Amino acid sequence: MTDGTALLVGGSSEIGIAVLTELLGPPPRRVVLAGRPSGELWWNAEKLRDLGYSVTTAQYDACLRADEVDGMLEHACADHPLSLAVVAVGTMTEESFADGIVVNGLSVALLLRALVQRGPEQIVLLSSAAAVRPRQSIAAYSLGKQLADSTAVLLARQAAESGVRILVVRPGFVATRMTAGQSKPPLATTPDRVARRVAGAVRSGQTIVWAPRTMGLAVRILNLLPRRMLPAAWR
Ligand SMILES: NC(=O)c1ccc[n+]([C@@H]2O[C@H](COP(=O)([O-])OP(=O)(O)OC[C@H]3O[C@@H](n4cnc5c(N)ncnc54)[C@H](OP(=O)(O)O)[C@@H]3O)[C@@H](O)[C@H]2O)c1
Repeated sequence: MTDGTALLVGGSSEIGIAVLTELLGPPPRRVVLAGRPSGELWWNAEKLRDLGYSVTTAQYDACLRADEVDGMLEHACADHPLSLAVVAVGTMTEESFADGIVVNGLSVALLLRALVQRGPEQIVLLSSAAAVRPRQSIAAYSLGKQLADSTAVLLARQAAESGVRILVVRPGFVATRMTAGQSKPPLATTPDRVARRVAGAVRSGQTIVWAPRTMGLAVRILNLLPRRMLPAAWR
């Protein structure tokens, strides 16, 4: 990968920063963390600066219009073209059903289109096993992830012709602040393990990767079982 700008959208995300750090390569390199201002975003920027990267932050909110997203990207990549983008935006604590679909789905779909147009070498989307195995208890999240995931899969085919690779990452349960307080199910994993799976998938040019590896098989089996046979949380 070249040393153009590396961008993390969802700059405060625990999985996002683990993935970005694993993919960055040695410093120096220009890194942009885009997100809503927060202590976590600031902390992630400081950690990368301590490692020797040149880090700036940019404002990204899921409620931005498409032209505002373009403006943010234009500004973020003004001096160095974009070579790597990691999209880690997601929420399970949305204010409403519609908000869950917009934040996890529609806004991410529009962002992915805008990113492809900038011609980076690699885009990584943090999707979810819930995109393939939607659950009633997280319906808006699941539906939003389905939209984002499908958009990335469709774009991956077109974008490959212009040299842009897209990797769709489908983790199951990952121990982060998003899942804090929930009991760990089987196949639970960590941000660092997800990051290593992503790095391996990027190296081998994959389009879809599950984390952990066995999650893909588990989801296929779960989808064959009648939902009424499963515990409520798995339906
Ligand atoms: N943890 C899991 O078990 C798990 C499993 C599968 C997939 N994933 C996906 O992995 C990604 C990273 O999750 P994580 O576990 O690292 O959780 P996280 O630390 O909570 O990261 C979520 C990111 O989304 C951002 N975000 C949420 N709502 C937003 C909004 N309205 N506008 C702009 N940004 C918004 C958050 O920014 P703020 O700090 O401003 O809220 C944060 O940067 C997400 O896409 C998530 O869906 C997570």
